[in-house]
Amino acid sequence: MATPEEAAEAARAAGLPPTGPADRAPTGPGSAPADSPTNRLTRISKGQTLPTAVHKDVAAMDPVLEVRDFNLWYGRKQALHQTSLRIPQNQITALIGPSGCGKSTLLRSLNRLNDLIDLVRIEGSVQLNGDELYDDAVDVIELRKRMGMVFQKSNPFPMSIFENVVYSLRVDGERNKAVLEDVCERSLRSAALWNEVKDRLHDNALGLSGGQQQRLCIARAIASKPEVLLMDEPCSALDPIATSKIEDLMDELRGDYTIVIVTHNMQQASRTSDYTAFMYLGRIVEYGPSREIFTSPLLTETEDYISGRFG
Ligand SMILES: Nc1ncnc2c1ncn2[C@@H]1O[C@H](COP(=O)(O)OP(=O)(O)O)[C@@H](O)[C@H]1O
Ligand SMILES: [Mg+2]
Repeated sequence: MATPEEAAEAARAAGLPPTGPADRAPTGPGSAPADSPTNRLTRISKGQTLPTAVHKDVAAMDPVLEVRDFNLWYGRKQALHQTSLRIPQNQITALIGPSGCGKSTLLRSLNRLNDLIDLVRIEGSVQLNGDELYDDAVDVIELRKRMGMVFQKSNPFPMSIFENVVYSLRVDGERNKAVLEDVCERSLRSAALWNEVKDRLHDNALGLSGGQQQRLCIARAIASKPEVLLMDEPCSALDPIATSKIEDLMDELRGDYTIVIVTHNMQQASRTSDYTAFMYLGRIVEYGPSREIFTSPLLTETEDYISGRFG
């Protein structure tokens, strides 16, 4: 039997999408074989594609961000397979799954950061409020203003706290001091950092603690009023206290911001997110409200992962 890569290669040569609904085996809670988790992993890795199990209320909602049949290759290696995902407005959506399953690749695809990697090739569609992101005419710089990104390792610029926060406004040529000060204060308040830094806004940002730097990066990302905030394991380099501050902050932002967060921490996903997508081997396996995913997943694969049986 052909490996998924070989099948994708052959399909591409024939001008066909590498996988499609027609190749998907009808798997579900009723038909999942009662074999061991290890056998199930083998079954998935042999390319007998699982269907995505999408819970009812995510299928019905109006998305801010909609990914449709998205495929991505690093050279010959396919990292995302027929990915479809609808991100609801002003909610927190978590992407979970074992290391290497494609979470960061998917997140980076949402604001075209993978464009920077030469050998990346993509197929499919991503729309932000109806605008196709992979259209040739899209201004990628403008796009990234509409979608803020916070990385695993905080990356403040080597300049003052104030200048970090208002960076995108400066780039846009904003000179009005009152406007800049107002945005700075509002963004730092939203990022729950204002009280800790208000008396030293002109100190270098690199003097802040790791947790403060990460909140500063969140303040900088929300200063340009993005439509979506993307976060890739924002707490993985932080201690538990700094982590709980970021989680509290996400709770504050809930309702006002659309957030997509990658996390490998199950407790964090279940505590902080409204919706959860479970990914495995470059596919979205199951997607639904977090309380359903974490208490009554539809697929045994999801249950095995969230209960720590693999990954
Ligand atoms: N720049 C890259 N070049 C080649 N392969 C990559 C690159 N980035 C990620 N990959 C591969 O793509 C797959 C998904 O990686 P990634 O999206 O980083 O997973 P996750 O964030 O879930 O750990 C992995 O097999 C990884 O090795
Ligand atoms: Mg990652």
